[in-house]
Amino acid sequence: MLEIKACIFDLDGVVVDTAKYHYLAWKRLASELGFEFHEKDNERLKGISRLDSLNILLEIGGVTLNEKEKEFLAVRKNQWYLEYIAKMTPDEILPGVRAFIDELKVNRVKIGLGSASKNAVLILNQLGIIHLFETIVDGTKVSNAKPDPEIFLLAARDLNVAPSQSIVFEDAEAGVEAAIRGGFKCVGIGNPAVLFKANIVVPNFIGMTMSKFLSLIN
Ligand code: BG6
Ligand code: MG
Repeated sequence: MLEIKACIFDLDGVVVDTAKYHYLAWKRLASELGFEFHEKDNERLKGISRLDSLNILLEIGGVTLNEKEKEFLAVRKNQWYLEYIAKMTPDEILPGVRAFIDELKVNRVKIGLGSASKNAVLILNQLGIIHLFETIVDGTKVSNAKPDPEIFLLAARDLNVAPSQSIVFEDAEAGVEAAIRGGFKCVGIGNPAVLFKANIVVPNFIGMTMSKFLSLIN
């Protein structure tokens, strides 16, 4: 029987639905640059760094810019994004997540965060759950973005657990790939057609317990 000693959560789209705020801010930037950014293309921006996201957005719009201009636009997008997340409350923690984390605490399973976001600490504070995470590895701490496994490997190292005894929860294709490449068990949260590389995919955390996850993974 598989023994799980740690759970490592992605943030955006797993703990909280910030993906919609990222989308709104990128859409606003696209519109300023004179092109439309559709929700179906937003999938490509999930899990990857701010600058990588901007490069994909510019490619979609057929816009070529130098590094300085890109830096300016990334800051501009982030300012709008920060305005959206400043209004967030603990009510926005996705359904079932808090109950699952509470179950992990009772069973002494270690809890980490592995997010590409440079706003992760701000968001966890806003949601009032920062104290629940024993390590927070975010976009300010890594040099290689997902799908590189660095984020999750650092979290596992901090928690002193082997990747094979840890579950990563991810909503993005790049994140699932990072987890699998790192040797972790991976639960995809969302669309099985997108997250097919995960060990299992569930739509959300509603009613989910560790024993349910384990029975699905095995
Ligand atoms: C990831 C999101 O969690 O963080 C991406 O899925 C986002 O969409 C990335 O681009 C970086 O976030 P931030 O907050 O540093 O701009
Ligand atoms: Mg995500």
